[in-house]
Amino acid sequence: MLIDGYEIQELSEDHAPELAAAYLRNREHLAPWDPVRPAAFHTPAGQTADVLARLDVVRRGLGASWVLVHGDDLVGRVNLNNIVRGVFQSGSVGYWVDHDHLGRGLASALVEHAVERADGLGLHRVEAGTLVPNVASQGVLRRCGFTEYGRAPAYLFIAGEWQDHLLFQRILHDRPAGAPVP
Ligand SMILES: CC(C)(COP(=O)(O)OP(=O)(O)OC[C@H]1O[C@@H](n2cnc3c(N)ncnc32)[C@H](O)[C@@H]1OP(=O)(O)O)[C@@H](O)C(=O)NCCC(=O)NCCS
Repeated sequence: MLIDGYEIQELSEDHAPELAAAYLRNREHLAPWDPVRPAAFHTPAGQTADVLARLDVVRRGLGASWVLVHGDDLVGRVNLNNIVRGVFQSGSVGYWVDHDHLGRGLASALVEHAVERADGLGLHRVEAGTLVPNVASQGVLRRCGFTEYGRAPAYLFIAGEWQDHLLFQRILHDRPAGAPVP
């Protein structure tokens, strides 16, 4: 990991209590950019259920998840979602960083980590969608070599509304779809 004092760890069930604490601490910070969360989401039991469901997705090869740890605190997360193989070979990246740890290049490090792993999985492309006013997230993606390629109207149901998103992608290689990773 690039930044002193921080470590990227693969998501495990053990992270559930710290994830619940982090989501609670960052409730207001994340609310404009996330789906509306049920109350249980911010509890250890709710996070245990969420993590177990997520680990099943990971086991089936449809996603991958990492968390960012600083001392005893969990202070960020990055997911590769919706991995599709065949002629697409694509995954979608999502991320957040704790409000007390912003502006240190941590989101960029998380996204780079996910992109490296996507490359290792043989994916051809990583995509991301941001809400139109989310300039912080757009800055992360540009800094990580993503290119904006369009605007999708009413793309995701975020903060209780269908909202337009700006779409970004980074192409990882030009090998044939499904070719072995060199
Ligand atoms: C977006 C977010 C992940 C950025 O985290 P971060 O660790 O502060 O980001 P970084 O330090 O890696 O910043 C990388 C680049 O993004 C841009 N950036 C970050 N925060 C910014 C801000 N508040 N305003 C404008 N640009 C910003 C800058 O270009 C920055 O590069 P620079 O420092 O070289 O100028 C964080 O603000 C967050 O968690 N937001 C809420 C959740 C969210 O929006 N997730 C993404 C959903 S698509």
